Amino acid sequence: FLLIAVLAVVAYLIGSISTAVWLGKAYYGIDIRKHGSGNSGATNTFRVLGKKPGTIVMLIDIFKGWAATSLAGLLVIFDAIPANNLVIFQLIFGALAVVGHIFPVYERFKGGKGVATLLGMMLAVQPEVALVCMVIFVIVLFTSRYVSLGSMIAALAFPMLLLLHPRFHPDNPILIIFGFVLFAVVVLTHRKNINRLIAGEESKANIGIGRKK
Ligand code: G3P
Repeated sequence: FLLIAVLAVVAYLIGSISTAVWLGKAYYGIDIRKHGSGNSGATNTFRVLGKKPGTIVMLIDIFKGWAATSLAGLLVIFDAIPANNLVIFQLIFGALAVVGHIFPVYERFKGGKGVATLLGMMLAVQPEVALVCMVIFVIVLFTSRYVSLGSMIAALAFPMLLLLHPRFHPDNPILIIFGFVLFAVVVLTHRKNINRLIAGEESKANIGIGRKK
């Protein structure tokens, strides 16, 4: 049990790594939370600081979710849990990393929206489904130019794809439940984006159909 508790805390601390805030402060001397959408995430880093730092933040935030989720494998290696319980602990640790990203202990609990970290978790538990979600995200982004809309639709796609999957897998029910809960979390972190989308005021990425040359 001690190992489970320690790894759970480590998963949360990994998620808490505030990549966008720290990179912005260390290399650009700005607090990303005071610029653009005010979000401590990859999208806002792209928007405020550009492609290179945006890509770095995106990759590290994805990696955080993947790494925290993968910690669950240690529980099997050290015989703390039976192998058939692996997925549930992967999901718990991945979800803790997403929570850490949104409420980072190092940054007075003011973090991002959890999308890249959630993607990392999805890649660790269901890589094929995660890749389909990424394709859906890219399609929505390139057609609407709204990152937030793409994020929410991709987060919903994960449990929906598993729900509609013709081949039953014993892990599916728990994956679907966690998927819908995390989709609800993503909707909550995107409250302001949703209001802006409805009002037609959401900022558009300069990408895809209709971008400025
Ligand atoms: O990943 C977060 C994205 O969906 C929205 O970010 O900065 O446009 O609010 P932002």
